[in-house]
Amino acid sequence: MTTLFTHIKELIQVEEYPNKMVSGAEMKLLPTIKNAFLLIENNTIKKFGKMKDLPTIKVDKSMNLEGKMILPTWCDSHTHIVYAGNREQEFIDRINGLSYEEIAQKGGGILNSAHQLQLISEEELYQQSSKRLEEIMKLGTGAVEIKSGYGLTKEAELKMLRVIKKLNKNYPIAIKATYLGAHAVPVDYKNNKKGYLDLVINEILPSVAKENLADFIDVFCEKGYFTVEDAERLLKAGEKYGLIPKIHVNQFHAIGGVQAGVKFKALSVDHLEEMRTEDIESLKDSQTMPVALPSCSYFLGIPYTPARKMIDAGLPLALASDYNPGSTPSGNMNFVISTACIKMKMTPEEAINAATINGAYAMNLEKTHGSICKGKKANFIITEQIPSYGFIPYSFGNHKIEAVYLEGNPI
Ligand code: NIG
Ligand code: FE
Repeated sequence: MTTLFTHIKELIQVEEYPNKMVSGAEMKLLPTIKNAFLLIENNTIKKFGKMKDLPTIKVDKSMNLEGKMILPTWCDSHTHIVYAGNREQEFIDRINGLSYEEIAQKGGGILNSAHQLQLISEEELYQQSSKRLEEIMKLGTGAVEIKSGYGLTKEAELKMLRVIKKLNKNYPIAIKATYLGAHAVPVDYKNNKKGYLDLVINEILPSVAKENLADFIDVFCEKGYFTVEDAERLLKAGEKYGLIPKIHVNQFHAIGGVQAGVKFKALSVDHLEEMRTEDIESLKDSQTMPVALPSCSYFLGIPYTPARKMIDAGLPLALASDYNPGSTPSGNMNFVISTACIKMKMTPEEAINAATINGAYAMNLEKTHGSICKGKKANFIITEQIPSYGFIPYSFGNHKIEAVYLEGNPI
C-alpha cells in the first residue's frame, strides 16, 4: 500500500540519514522543505522531496495537502500514564495552600496512587490507561515511554509493567517501558528504606527482567525519597540485567543525581528544575540527554528547567510531558512545546527538535522515530492550514492538528 502526499506547504524535520540528537546552537536549526511531497509505503517513509522533483509513480492513494504542513509525531520520553483513579483532591488541597511536599508527607502523593493501584485489577488498570494512551495519540504523540512506580509491591509493579506490555502489543504507538521501583518508600517500609531497596533489588528486579518487562530503570533521586547512594546501588543492580538508567533528578533539590546519571551512562536525566553550574558542566561531553518537563513546572508552580542556560552551554535538551496523576495530569505535547517557548524562552525550532528527534534519542528510538527520514516509521502529524510552523507553539492551549498517522495509517 503506497500513499503520496503532495503540495505540502512545509515538510518539517527532514533528515537524509537518521541523526543521533541535536545540541547547542544546532537546536535552532530545523531542517524543512517547502512545497514538498511525501511518499509512504505500508508503515514506512519511502521518499520525500520538493514538488518539482516529484517522480511519475503509480500509487494506491494520493492526497493534496495545499496549505498544510507535515511534521514527525511527538516523542514523549517521560510519562507515568499507567495509573489508577486520580488525585483531584490533592489539586484542590494545593489550591487551598498545601504544598506538593506537604501532601506527600501526610501520606498522599505517590503513596495515594499506589494505594489506589493496588486495589484494582490488571484489566481495570488496562482500561483506564488505554484511554489516556488513545488521548495522547490523538494529540500527535507517536512514541512514548511509560514508567511503573505506582505499585510499590512486587505484585502491583508487575501488574503495571504487564499493562504497559499489553498496550505496546495492542496499539500502533511505539512504547518503551521503565521499571521505577524506587519511586517512593511504601507504607509497610516506612522506617526501613533499606529493606525496601533490598526487596526491589533482590525480588522485584529479577522478576521484571525474567518476564522481559522493562527497557529502562528509573529512581526518584530526591530529598525525602532516595539518596544518590540509593540511586547508585539500584542502577548498579539494574546494569546486571541490561536495564539502562533514565532517572528523576533535581526536581526540588540538586543533590548530585545528575552526576550519578552521567556516571552510570544514563540515557537521560529528567526534571532538572534545580540546576547548579556544576550540574550543567557534568552533562557536557556525556551521552546523557537532559529532559525538561515544563507541564510539571506549570502545574506545580515550581521553577522551569533553565533551558536557555543549558542550550547556550552547548547541551542538547529533550521535552517530555511527565503525564501522571500528581504533578502533571496532562500528556498534551502541543502544550509542552508552547510552554517551553513561552516560559523557557526556547525558539519554536528548539522546542520542535526537543520534542521530536531528541525525545526519540531519550528512548533509544532515534533510528526509527523523531524525523521525516527514509526508512523511518511513517509517523507524522498533518497540520491544519497554518501560516508557519511557529503557529504550533504560538497557538497555546490549542492544537493545529488535522490528522495523525501512525505506522502509515490515520488514527
Ligand atoms: O515525575 N517526581 C516524581 N514522580 C512524578 C510525580 C509523582 C506523583 O506525584 O505521582 C513526577 O513528577
Ligand atoms: Fe516523572
